[in-house]
Amino acid sequence: MDVTIDTTTEQKDTENSVLELIEQMQVPINSSCRGGVCMNCKSSCSDTSVFESMSDIEPLLPLDSNEFLPCVSRLKKDAPSIITIHVST
Ligand code: FES
Repeated sequence: MDVTIDTTTEQKDTENSVLELIEQMQVPINSSCRGGVCMNCKSSCSDTSVFESMSDIEPLLPLDSNEFLPCVSRLKKDAPSIITIHVST
């Protein structure tokens, strides 16, 4: 499922995780550990450089260059205004 985050609205939130942002939008997304280990929330984005990691923990398996873990990622302050994420549901 594709989710679009409009950072020009109240969704601009660089403190909470991307997982929390998606949950606030009432979009179903897989999650479990919420700590960057289980990989249940693994999602993808064409430009993962718009996110910064909130954790030093390595995931169980390596991520592809377009993949990230929303539970331990947050938007960078200079993220573009529209970001589309493909989430696992
Ligand atoms: S919920 Fe476990 S890695 Fe995100």
